Amino acid sequence: MAAYDVIVIGSGPGGYVSAIRCAQLGLKTACVEGRETLGGTCLNIGCIPSKALLHASHMLHEAEHNFAKMGLNGKSPSVDWKQMQAYKTETIRSNTNGVEFLFKKNKIDWIKGWGQIITPGKVRVDDTVHETKNIIIASGSVPSSLPGIEVDEKIVVTSTGALTLPKIPKKMVVIGAGVIGLELGSVYARLGSEVTVVEYLDAITPGMDAEVQKTFQRILKKQGLKFVMGAAVQSVDKLKTKAKVNYKLRKDESYHQIETDVVLVATGRKPFTEGLGLKELGVKMSDRGQIKTDERWQTNISGIFAIGDAIDGPMLAHKAEDEGMATADVIARKHGHVNYNVIPGVIYTSPEVANVGVTEDELKQQGIAYKIGKFMFMGNGRAKANFAADGFVKLLADAKTDRLLGAHIIGPSAGDLIHEICVAMEFGATAEDLALTCHAHPTYSEAIREAALACGLGAIHS
Ligand code: NAI
Repeated sequence: MAAYDVIVIGSGPGGYVSAIRCAQLGLKTACVEGRETLGGTCLNIGCIPSKALLHASHMLHEAEHNFAKMGLNGKSPSVDWKQMQAYKTETIRSNTNGVEFLFKKNKIDWIKGWGQIITPGKVRVDDTVHETKNIIIASGSVPSSLPGIEVDEKIVVTSTGALTLPKIPKKMVVIGAGVIGLELGSVYARLGSEVTVVEYLDAITPGMDAEVQKTFQRILKKQGLKFVMGAAVQSVDKLKTKAKVNYKLRKDESYHQIETDVVLVATGRKPFTEGLGLKELGVKMSDRGQIKTDERWQTNISGIFAIGDAIDGPMLAHKAEDEGMATADVIARKHGHVNYNVIPGVIYTSPEVANVGVTEDELKQQGIAYKIGKFMFMGNGRAKANFAADGFVKLLADAKTDRLLGAHIIGPSAGDLIHEICVAMEFGATAEDLALTCHAHPTYSEAIREAALACGLGAIHS
């Protein structure tokens, strides 16, 4: 008899959440993880450490720009980079220890090492073969660089190296104006680096609402970030302690160079599936290196499932978590559910940017008649008091039925505010349902109600 009902490979947010859910459902569960600590990219070298640096640098920004306005006088704090790194490390430690505690609480075995599937039902870790009825692959993703660029994680870094730079660089070039580039770019800009973002497209954050893109770029420029748009980076020349980034402007095909202390390559991530033995097993993969699964997250091989960044869809921790829980449900109870239409996306800059559902462009393409309810944070009392009035809430609702179809927010706590709309969309709510819901005053969330009112007779404060 197999020792386990489920072996999960990988302990990132997809894997560890899935393992806990499996255990809660009464399945004997193990999780294979080769890193020193649990939590995967997100907890160790991704979401969590970057949020610590975003928070610390945001505090500095507040002290430098807003304290005096509130009558809080005195010298602005100076940056102790070693201590900021220690704070980041401690944040990681308490989170990864938390997962270890949850594993013990739920009686999940942590098999330390890198797993390889030898046949369905058999996972080898080092010299030991573990038998199991089901396998869930949650092996995540790694940064994907560009041809002509050699990452050394010192001068030419990915998000991993950018979190542990030995000192704050004078100059930083960020390749790619996506989520990673803008989050980490704004950290270093606030800490005093001269940050230039070089982006291939003509707009930042591809796929996002066009109005949000414009407002976001304007705000980031105001914060000191420089942008070179429509520029294809060709290569990076490494010098002794610096680097030169070579790019071609798309509009006139002219070639340019920027010299810098650090280059952050933030041009996307790719699934990490090396060493799992998938090719030998005949697991079907897409052209983009993603594991193919059916609607129940099962691969073409019975008993082998895959979730998270290693499969299709947005590379987001919470999408992986949802798939992890749903797969546990599929294994234990034959049915699992993820609503892919209601997966929020958040950029944790300052202000935050958040979205859920469709964009206006998508509605136009689909030929769906829609209405827009927009409300500027300038009309929100709480935002004004907190120097956070730049930005807006934009709701998209079906023109005929008033059903909420999408939301795009740039402004204070956007990453938290978006969830009110996620819940509303899950319940099939209309803009009027939101507008009729009493919202406490004074809160940022009133901006959502006002945007909902703007889908009807009109907002009150605009
Ligand atoms: P991304 O796909 O979001 O952005 C990459 C950018 O690089 C694009 O704008 C692209 O046009 C540009 N680019 C590509 N080649 C280029 C070239 N040769 N020259 C100039 N620009 C070029 O990728 P990113 O930011 O690396 O993020 C990777 C993944 O991680 C994403 O799926 C993202 O959703 C996820 N992530 C999510 C976070 C969050 O939810 N807050 C935080 C960090 C990562």
